[in-house]
Amino acid sequence: MINIQKLKQWKQQGRKIVVLTAWDYAIAQLLDAAGVDIILVGDSLGMVTLGYETTLPLTLEEMIHHTKAVRRGVKRALVVCDLPFLSYQESSQQAIHSAGRVLKETGAQAVKLEGGYPAAAETVARLTAIGIPVMGHVGLTPQSVHLLGYRQQGKTNDDADRIFAEAIALGEAGAFAIVLEHIPSDLAMKITQTLTIPTIGIGAGGHCDGQVLVTADLLGLSEKLPPFAKSYVNLRQEITEAVQTFSYEVQEQKFPRIE
Ligand code: KIV
Repeated sequence: MINIQKLKQWKQQGRKIVVLTAWDYAIAQLLDAAGVDIILVGDSLGMVTLGYETTLPLTLEEMIHHTKAVRRGVKRALVVCDLPFLSYQESSQQAIHSAGRVLKETGAQAVKLEGGYPAAAETVARLTAIGIPVMGHVGLTPQSVHLLGYRQQGKTNDDADRIFAEAIALGEAGAFAIVLEHIPSDLAMKITQTLTIPTIGIGAGGHCDGQVLVTADLLGLSEKLPPFAKSYVNLRQEITEAVQTFSYEVQEQKFPRIE
């Protein structure tokens, strides 16, 4: 199994880290067998698989339910579970309780939380102090969509300085890796070169230590693709064609064959 020590070694060796999201047993099994290093049960599952408009309505119970299914499908990858909106921001006690439940009940090895300095960094320090590995997430943080929108972050010097300071604070607080979402490539490069922990980019250019995509985007299952994502197959089209063929064969009594 992959652990957080191995990820740090890979950064030192320049071996890129492959991260994808999963939401159920079947997808997790496929990703794991295909050699993905980190399987993230991202709160994007709220939009991708549960049909919420944003990630905000998702509950800790829902994340735990999906993470249990994902974990059952994984033999090799490190499984990280997103802490959903308002399951960790109120206090360190709340964060410890939520992250503790995730590790105890799902078998995931780590949690991810959004945001930077000072509140998120303090929470990361409290969680790592009791042995819970935490992945940070700065730049575009979808749990703050009503404040930030889905726009690229870090475009002005002040904003870039703020994101840089947040990433450093999360590293100093003990995060084992940091997601950099939708920020300029030169900012991501500066953070990557400064931190000793791996950076995982999404819409942050090619200089990060690893890359993550939402698997529904990669598979062409999403209705709308963010500008920085890439689909490697069009499953929406393939599924539609398969279903239409099945409908046709049922109506025309071609399937099942009448003996
Ligand atoms: O929820 C998610 O899928 C994420 C990734 C985009 C990093 O946080």
